[in-house]
Amino acid sequence: MALVSAKEMIEKAHAGHYAVGAFNINNMEWTKAILLAAEEAKSPVMLGVSEGAGKYMCGFKNVVAMVKEIHDYLGITVPVALHLDHGSYEGAKACIEAGFTSVMFDGSHYAFEENLEKSKEMIELAHSKGISIECEVGGIGGEEDGVTSMGELADPAECATIANLGVDFLAAGIGNIHGKYPADWAGLNFDRLGEIQESTNGKPLVLHGGSGIPAEQVAKAISLGVSKINVNTELQLEFAAATRKYIEAGKDLEGKGYDPRKLLKPGADAIQAKVVAMMEQFGSAGKA
Ligand code: 13P
Repeated sequence: MALVSAKEMIEKAHAGHYAVGAFNINNMEWTKAILLAAEEAKSPVMLGVSEGAGKYMCGFKNVVAMVKEIHDYLGITVPVALHLDHGSYEGAKACIEAGFTSVMFDGSHYAFEENLEKSKEMIELAHSKGISIECEVGGIGGEEDGVTSMGELADPAECATIANLGVDFLAAGIGNIHGKYPADWAGLNFDRLGEIQESTNGKPLVLHGGSGIPAEQVAKAISLGVSKINVNTELQLEFAAATRKYIEAGKDLEGKGYDPRKLLKPGADAIQAKVVAMMEQFGSAGKA
């Protein structure tokens, strides 16, 4: 199966009360590990690419080519969407052109009227190409690719206005934060989540900052309409810890342990195991 739009997988998740994971990729190892995990768990999956990671991987065209080739080479049979994460106006257009099957246009830093206008244009453009699209209302806290914002609570009326444009899934701030959660974090705001789900007439919602949220809060968020959960930091921590362990045990100095295929394997295996576990937690395992 070729790469697909995320529309169907997210609508099925919303109807079935589970969530699809959107896991950020950084390179070949990340891509391979996440695709193998999805196949192992028999789960639909979204591969998220930030604009920074796109640059790191030498451009969106290279990302499309790499993901398609790895996907076909591994014989992946579960539905896979290649998704731009927190796209700018120019970035979203470039990814639609480059062959991504899903994009996020994040206009949350604009005044609402401008976000609305640009989101409308981008939704029309994405849909004219059969690509799914996510938009954002209310900033997500924390830092991502050098852009910092405090955790906001999205305005349910603004969410309704963007939802009515026909966006496929909507990211709305509910106190979630990118990166590690601080010890004094107040937790997800379920009252606001419920209000947003109601005001948008049951639009599938996206939970950004999916790393390190207590399991019971994730389960409750899914029960209130979250159908896509973004995870980045957690996989970076898993990879770093496994690689550290390998080096601290002196394994890189034993035999040909310095061979990158050996050196990067514990980290890649750790990513795969973590993604399978999260797919089970989100309820998407076995849903492909
Ligand atoms: P984390 O890095 O906190 O998992 O957030 C990922 C994310 O929301 C990407 O958009």
